[in-house]
Amino acid sequence: MASRDDILEVNRRYHDVAAADYDTKWGVDYGEVGRAQVLGKVEKLLGRRPGPFARSLEIGSGTGYFTLNLMQEGVIAAGVCSDVSPGMLGALRANAERLGLDVETVVGDAAALPLADAGFDLVLGHAVLHHLPDLERAFAEFMRVLRPGGVLLFAGEPSRYGDRIAALPKRAGLAAAPLWRRAVGARAAARNGNGGPPDDHLLESLVDVHAFAPTDLERHASAAGFADVRVRGEELLANMFGWFNRTVEASAVHEDIPFGWFRYAYLGYILLQKVDGALLEPHLPAAGFYNLMLTARKPS
Ligand SMILES: C[S@@+](CC[C@H](N)C(=O)[O-])C[C@H]1O[C@@H](n2cnc3c(N)ncnc32)[C@H](O)[C@@H]1O
Repeated sequence: MASRDDILEVNRRYHDVAAADYDTKWGVDYGEVGRAQVLGKVEKLLGRRPGPFARSLEIGSGTGYFTLNLMQEGVIAAGVCSDVSPGMLGALRANAERLGLDVETVVGDAAALPLADAGFDLVLGHAVLHHLPDLERAFAEFMRVLRPGGVLLFAGEPSRYGDRIAALPKRAGLAAAPLWRRAVGARAAARNGNGGPPDDHLLESLVDVHAFAPTDLERHASAAGFADVRVRGEELLANMFGWFNRTVEASAVHEDIPFGWFRYAYLGYILLQKVDGALLEPHLPAAGFYNLMLTARKPS
């Protein structure tokens, strides 16, 4: 089993390399679409027009998807972004500069934040908890740096059940990839020496160290002393559709894929997200969804 330090090091290296193409690969957007996506997720947890929060800290901020979009929406006034990967924070600063936003960046592990106590009104993160080898220490750090009454918010964490469900569209995508490439007229992407999946995917499986049951997240937050802990699930059909599409796309030379395909993939995803939100999320238990979201409050 990999040690805590190994996991941190692989995460740093993997994300440093991924930083240059990260926004393109994951469709990270800072325009109207990205702002609506991020605000929609935060509103699911905090209600309509949340905040404004005077000073926030993002954990594993990557290229800035959450903080930069929330600053543009006026939900956050001053944002501090932390990440174990200096490469990701470099990409974030370039995005912030392009958008005319002023953010502070801090390199560091979520479980040992180089920051003073009680300095933030909001501690947030998206798609990061599942990378952390020491969740107990990380949640203790979130508690320490929040001011009394401050809000904790995490979204985009893979659920255990959802992770298993995602294996289906990934397998279907791999099986359909040759036919799909022929249909869209794209060449096959280069593979590693073993003829296996691209190396990128092998590393991806090393950096993802958890998939959660809703009770796991509740337990970590409660054990750290948080109050009003709530976990909910989001997206099922949209994610299955997305994983299929990403798998076939990853099998091809990116530049060969026609723009029309990306448009179809994007519109289909948005449509299914609406179906998930309106028909499934209000009725199914959190564990049944692909993503889990958590909110809690530091007692006053
Ligand atoms: C899947 S990316 C998500 C990035 C961004 N939050 C987003 O939604 O686009 C996970 C991020 O967590 C960071 N990360 C991984 N392990 C970390 C750790 N121990 N402490 C802080 N950040 C970490 C990675 O470097 C990466 O930027």
